[in-house]
Amino acid sequence: MALQASSLLSSAFVSPKEVKVNGGIKDSVFLGVSFSESVKSDINSTLLRSKRMNMQSVIVKAQTTATDAPAVSQATPDSKKTLRKGNVIITGASSGLGLATAKALAESGKWHVIMACRDFLKTEKAAKSAGMTKDSYTVMHLDLASLDSVRQFIDNFRRSDMPLDVLVCNAAVYQPTASQPSYTADGFEMSVGVNHLGHFLLARELLDDLKNSDYPSKRLIIVGSITGNTNTLAGNVPPKANLGDLRGLAGGVNGMSGSAMIDGGDFDGAKAYKDSKVCNMLMMQEFHRRFHEETGITFASLYPGCIATTGLFREHIPLFRLLFPPFQKYITKGFVSEDDAGRRLAQVVSDPSLTKSGVYWSWNQNSASFENQLSKEASDADKAKRVWELSEKLVGLA
Ligand SMILES: NC(=O)c1ccc[n+]([C@@H]2O[C@H](COP(=O)([O-])OP(=O)(O)OC[C@H]3O[C@@H](n4cnc5c(N)ncnc54)[C@H](OP(=O)(O)O)[C@@H]3O)[C@@H](O)[C@H]2O)c1
Repeated sequence: MALQASSLLSSAFVSPKEVKVNGGIKDSVFLGVSFSESVKSDINSTLLRSKRMNMQSVIVKAQTTATDAPAVSQATPDSKKTLRKGNVIITGASSGLGLATAKALAESGKWHVIMACRDFLKTEKAAKSAGMTKDSYTVMHLDLASLDSVRQFIDNFRRSDMPLDVLVCNAAVYQPTASQPSYTADGFEMSVGVNHLGHFLLARELLDDLKNSDYPSKRLIIVGSITGNTNTLAGNVPPKANLGDLRGLAGGVNGMSGSAMIDGGDFDGAKAYKDSKVCNMLMMQEFHRRFHEETGITFASLYPGCIATTGLFREHIPLFRLLFPPFQKYITKGFVSEDDAGRRLAQVVSDPSLTKSGVYWSWNQNSASFENQLSKEASDADKAKRVWELSEKLVGLA
């Protein structure tokens, strides 16, 4: 049993290979503008009041919880600096990394967080217990296991009249002990359906909203994972990620006409998760290739470190859940607390030094960010194009 546990635990996330170190987070000033300036003007507060009223009525119609509207733009005498709060949508912000990121951004006073979650009450309670102030967030319903829900979310968000400056695709399910596949409302295997296809539709559709933002730096971030990268120790623990020739994805990963797995093989819940993460990292790069130059949007992915305490491991066996955090803390030393991981993702959202597009960010032992290398498969441009095209068909975009 001990052996079994240690081999399970060796799927732990090790420190990734370092390539290049970048600057750390800069909290006090964003793009050279102090936010304390943004609340001084009378004009600003008048605009703010009218925007609040407008937003609240719209959001009630959209059956979401209105908390408060973000601050608004203010022109300064020297230049037209955007002083309003940035608006960031974070999927899966009800727990773990998403919640810690929402908290870090809300606390900075510079961001209004749209918490896109499937469990409304859980998210409200989580925001409250994280100490997020009412005016720093809005909860909107999103179930990534239903394409209809994704479309409804987009509709609700647009009705709120909030500009979109950053989208963070963070939510995920991980079903390592499932012996049989489960399926989304549209009949896709759950991990691929939620982690990849739901996010793909969301990101593809919200691209125009990001494009229309007047914010100085607009970003689309898709959370990746070391486990999908076979150029790492953790990525080499079986079952390894492998999308094969994509025959299962071409068949709809629905288990009806073919396999529930992207590569067309037998179902394996741990592999399905890793495969979905490869898709996440491939899609970030494909977005970059197709849209960065035209839109100026920064596309990025990241591995925030091993956050061994999050709900991601809720479906793992109890022994794993007991031993995994100390194993990460004391053996691999790859353990990252939820708060630290949240600050890392918040950095990718807002740090002016992390605007390079097409990058997969990681952090070294000193918590300094660097551009990490993706595995051969996770950086295969031909495969990315094919996954994109097949995914467009599956979510009804082609
Ligand atoms: N934990 C790690 O060590 C680690 C390492 C590398 C990467 N990551 C990545 O980090 C991200 C966040 O994971 P986490 O560790 O913070 O896990 P987590 O605490 O379980 O968070 C996952 C979030 O996804 C949401 N979610 C699940 N299914 C959904 C659906 N159908 N629709 C909408 N939301 C859904 C969950 O909502 P509910 O609260 O309603 O369940 C939860 O908010 C994932 O992308 C994961 O791959 C994690």
